[in-house]
Amino acid sequence: MPVPDFLPVVAIDGPAASGKSSTARMVAVALGFRQADSGALYRAVTAARIRKGGDPGTWTEASVLDAASGVSVVAQERVFGVRLAGEVIDEELRGPAVTASVSLIARMRGVRLWANARMRECALVGPIVVDGRDMGTVVFPDAVLKVWLIADTVERARRRSIEMLGRSPSDEELAREATDLERRDRGDSAQTQPAADAVVVDTTRLTQAEQVAQIVALAKTRLRGERAE
Ligand code: DC
Repeated sequence: MPVPDFLPVVAIDGPAASGKSSTARMVAVALGFRQADSGALYRAVTAARIRKGGDPGTWTEASVLDAASGVSVVAQERVFGVRLAGEVIDEELRGPAVTASVSLIARMRGVRLWANARMRECALVGPIVVDGRDMGTVVFPDAVLKVWLIADTVERARRRSIEMLGRSPSDEELAREATDLERRDRGDSAQTQPAADAVVVDTTRLTQAEQVAQIVALAKTRLRGERAE
């Protein structure tokens, strides 16, 4: 079988809580690729900057980039893990303090260049499934497959609430989560746009297994097409 002269990238982008990371991880396992979550990188830089102290409103880009030097990315079997000062901090990354300030940091141009460089380094290691906001538009414009993953706001809020609370949310909790998601969507809107050639997958009425199967099938078709060229 001819060996492709590039390493394939599958890019999964979409708004907050559309299920990108969990889907990307399962797609990566099914394809035998690694997954790299660009949102985790922005979150790790935010956690790093929070540790240095000070009010988020006063953070300069230089101080954020200085904090970013403590963030590293480690190739594991099926995923790239993000570390801060060599430690696994996955729970802190999902916590409210990081979530509240990450949009602010993700709007800094120098931070975006830093994160993009880290993501491209991951793609040099082997075939990869990447997820985020601008993977298909900015970071990997030549991705073999670009997916734009969307779901209704209320459905996204319901899934996020179940994940955070471990149970079904009350109407009030659901409404609060939906409002928060809309606020985050607005904060990230500049970099959250579908690529012109992205395949839109609306997961509102799909189970996770169904959406993963759809994306894996699309990726396999594209990968076969490329090898035949
Ligand atoms: O997907 P997430 O919630 O983990 O993303 C965290 C933050 O990082 C969110 O504010 C969007 C931002 N982000 C971004 O601007 N570009 C990316 N490629 C990935 C995430």
